[in-house]
Amino acid sequence: MNKRPLFLALGGFVHGGDYNPEQWLDRPDILEEDIRMMKKAGINEATIGVFSWSMLEPEEGRYDLSWLEKTADRLYENGIYFILATPSGARPAWLDEKYPEARRVNVNGDRELHGVRHNHCMSSPKFRELVRDIDGRLAQKFAHHPGLIAWHISNEFGGECYCDSCKRRFRQYLSDKFGGDIDKLNHAWWNTFWSHRFNGFEQIDPPMSHGEFSSMGLTLEWKRFTTFITNEFMKEEIRTVRSFNPDIPVTANFMTMYEGLDYRVMAKSLDVISWDSYPRFHNDYESFYDTMIYNAFCHAQMRSMKKDRPFLLMESTPSLVNWHEVNRPKRPGVHMLSSLQAVAAGSDSVQYFQWRKGRGSFEQYHGAVVDHIGTDDTRVFKDVEALGKTLVKLAPVAGTVIRTKAAIIYDWDTKWSLSIVKAFSHDTVRYDDICIKWYKMLAKSGVECDIISSEDDMADYSLVIAPQMYMLGEGTASRLRAFVQNGGVLVATYMCGYVDSDQLCWLGGFPGDGLSELFGLRAEEIDAYYPSQTNSVRFSDGGSCTVTDYAEILRDVSADVLARYGDDFYAGTAAVTEKAFGQGRAIYVAARLEESGMERIIDRALSQAGIERKALPENVAYYRRSGDGVNYGFYLNYSDVPVQLPDACTDIISGEKVTQLAPYGVIVITEE
Ligand code: GAL
Repeated sequence: MNKRPLFLALGGFVHGGDYNPEQWLDRPDILEEDIRMMKKAGINEATIGVFSWSMLEPEEGRYDLSWLEKTADRLYENGIYFILATPSGARPAWLDEKYPEARRVNVNGDRELHGVRHNHCMSSPKFRELVRDIDGRLAQKFAHHPGLIAWHISNEFGGECYCDSCKRRFRQYLSDKFGGDIDKLNHAWWNTFWSHRFNGFEQIDPPMSHGEFSSMGLTLEWKRFTTFITNEFMKEEIRTVRSFNPDIPVTANFMTMYEGLDYRVMAKSLDVISWDSYPRFHNDYESFYDTMIYNAFCHAQMRSMKKDRPFLLMESTPSLVNWHEVNRPKRPGVHMLSSLQAVAAGSDSVQYFQWRKGRGSFEQYHGAVVDHIGTDDTRVFKDVEALGKTLVKLAPVAGTVIRTKAAIIYDWDTKWSLSIVKAFSHDTVRYDDICIKWYKMLAKSGVECDIISSEDDMADYSLVIAPQMYMLGEGTASRLRAFVQNGGVLVATYMCGYVDSDQLCWLGGFPGDGLSELFGLRAEEIDAYYPSQTNSVRFSDGGSCTVTDYAEILRDVSADVLARYGDDFYAGTAAVTEKAFGQGRAIYVAARLEESGMERIIDRALSQAGIERKALPENVAYYRRSGDGVNYGFYLNYSDVPVQLPDACTDIISGEKVTQLAPYGVIVITEE
């Protein structure tokens, strides 16, 4: 496995973040001070141009790229590279005034007024033309600048537009999808129900607040269309900047499990995956360990979209944000820990929003490396500086990747369908949380896993977990069968395979599309519990655990029964099963088990899959990055108390032999 750092010029990790000098053009002293402080903090990258349109083109056709050029040059002269953003994430007032079609029409059918950001129409030909123009001008000037290491396309794409142009494109999208045959759509959406049959595509409107909201098919296709049109918009921006220099990699900052876009579709058009991480540290509703696990899942999900290379942590805060319900600064040690968690999980960067706090407006109190006090001796600045030094020590790790034999399936289609479906219990489907819970069980066993799509190739894995895989799209069942046939261990849970990719229920018992044979069972009913109600399961080899929220009632069970229900009218029936199939095994978990039950299943599945568990002290996480024949082991303490390590080891960061992990501490070692 050869090591391939993302940016050779940097000789290691990227340490930087969003920098907006255009807010300070009347303070040349501050701009000079920024460079000095960046060097002091070990910053080697600045992300510039994010939301800068009104300063780049103050009036239509009048451009001023001089301040940006000066910034780029000054940074580069001082050994600081830059990632240049296209400015499409926020529009100047002149543009919205002259071209109202750039402004979105909201779900109520109203054209929005000028303001805020992330709210442009993705399909407007005029807006696209204006974006092409400004992107082209930026690329013409900077595409061959020696300091440019990547393009940052727009900012956090998201949202929907219901204007006439988007409606037209939606109808065209549907017509293309259903081969121009409205009856195919009528069947796929089950439109005979409630007399919902259409006579032609032109009759179809998006799901709007005063319109159709009861059609599962319409709502799902609208979500897919939103990804389609956003991706088309993004690809146009990419095409523009690439046409000036195809060698500069492109990225777009994702928001991990963001509901609005299927990032897997968009990832295909990008060279590098990057994302913005803002966990709610130190909250009062979960343990610090669980907050870190949530963030770890996000890293894994982002990493897994391009497994052969590192990703970028494009944004994180060095201290606090300003938009959580409660904005708490990171406790001492947590900045180092959370940043090195990203590195351990496969990131080649630690980047911030933002370098310097602005004086006014919406984000004036958002955390930054440089606070309003303006000095380089703050707690936060020192934390960043310390991290800068650490990243230099870890430089050989840059470019290495994580290889794992375990994966969890996470699909936007399933997530969307489960959010649309009228069934189960409104508050407890919790698809994201449940996927994270399975991730946690693996992490506690010292096993980092990939987060994949049911469309991905599974040949690299020996264990695949498919939590609540409600939708079985085309080919998924046969891929899973082949995976198990060839020796893989598959763990699936309740709500598996209820619908096809149009959300039509599979007939003949769930899981559909032949998967019931693989598991050797059929789910006949699903019981949902109110929050205070529970059931239990008893394992055949002793012990029991609680069931909450969901329990499927199984029939025609030909698999081995590992656990049975303890209560209710289905007491004594199968709740957890396992079936040998080909050279592998298919485990079915019919109920939502408490963690102790999940842990038993993970233990069993790991040993059957031949994946070694790693005994970890409580609250400690482990990762391994590899490349050029060297493995780097990361141990991270997700708690505020010191933890004794099983063996003494030599930490690359401190250069010392250590036997303990400090509170929130991290050590990195080289391994066999
Ligand atoms: C991100 C966004 C940044 C900044 C940041 C604040 O979502 O990309 O521009 O607003 O949030 O946390």
